[in-house]
Amino acid sequence: MKALIDKLYSTSSLTKEEYTKLIQHHSGSDAEYLYSLAVKRRKEYYGTDVYIRGLIEFTNYCKNDCLYCGIRRSNKNTERYRLDKDDILACCEQGYGLGFRTFVLQGGEDPYFTDERICDIVSSIKSSYPDCAVTLSIGEKEHASYKAFFDAGADRYLLRHETADNNHYRKLHPSEMSPEHRKQCLYDLKAIGYQVGCGFMVGSPYQTAENLADDMMFLKEFRPHMVGIGPFISQHDTPFSDFESGTLDQTLFMLGLIRLTLPYVLLPSTTALGTIHPLGREKGVLAGANVVMPNLSPVSVRKKYLLYDNKICTGDEAAECKNCLQMRMRSIGYDVVSSRGDCAGIK
Ligand code: 5AD
Ligand code: FES
Repeated sequence: MKALIDKLYSTSSLTKEEYTKLIQHHSGSDAEYLYSLAVKRRKEYYGTDVYIRGLIEFTNYCKNDCLYCGIRRSNKNTERYRLDKDDILACCEQGYGLGFRTFVLQGGEDPYFTDERICDIVSSIKSSYPDCAVTLSIGEKEHASYKAFFDAGADRYLLRHETADNNHYRKLHPSEMSPEHRKQCLYDLKAIGYQVGCGFMVGSPYQTAENLADDMMFLKEFRPHMVGIGPFISQHDTPFSDFESGTLDQTLFMLGLIRLTLPYVLLPSTTALGTIHPLGREKGVLAGANVVMPNLSPVSVRKKYLLYDNKICTGDEAAECKNCLQMRMRSIGYDVVSSRGDCAGIK
């Protein structure tokens, strides 16, 4: 297996069969070897800097019904909320003071937030904070909507592809959602000029090693600026409540593979990773990640944005989240920096 890892390190590429074999059959010492090379590569591009993104979860209304997600429309036990423009601007003001230079507006697919409302919010943030990047993470939209948000000033867009395998995708989503449309959205976003993030869950129901290898092949083809991955974590009010969650080791291994496959990529060590292990986010950085996304949402709504069970950081103030992450990153020899943290460039 070490020979395959060496090959990935020197060529940034493997075949699907090679990825599958590595994902399926690596040992603990193979994983350690992968992380050491992933960290080396990450340092060539980004040193020991860790970028922060202020996450504002501005609505948990969602018209979709993804089988894994706690805010799916069929979940009657979720108390729904929306933040208005002033609430969102207040989050940004607080975040700016704490050193955040990227704001990520994330929400369910909420029809209340028309294109006009989103454009108004984006342009208000950009005019108050012209030195900041605005990232949208609001799901599948038409090309014209993505273009309008971009023209209003949005810089980046996160839309996880969830799984690159179309059959697997259909097992995770109701039939009204299509994997083809989701991928089309990603290509539209890129063509418009966004810095684009895709991504997937690790250990989601029915996922095979081959599916994960397909995810790697998709990343190589699509060449995103960012990749968001985290373990699947079962949520008690969803149809997938009885499925096992993904594991820390599986997720770390995928982070390492992604860093070596896309050396330049912005790779968050996610809250989901921090949820399945107390040191999950530190371990993510030590496997090649270089971004953390502390919560900037008002404390009063945090417990309502529960995509999965036992989510961490639902009680603290924004300032505490930032300081906590800074301390955690320093403890492993890394440093949270206050810059926009743009991608080092797709090479
Ligand atoms: N476990 C882990 N991640 C989840 N997401 C949604 N539900 C879950 C869950 N139960 C992820 C999806 C989505 C992102 C916003 O959160 O990948 O794209
Ligand atoms: Fe909202 Fe999947 S449940 S997008």
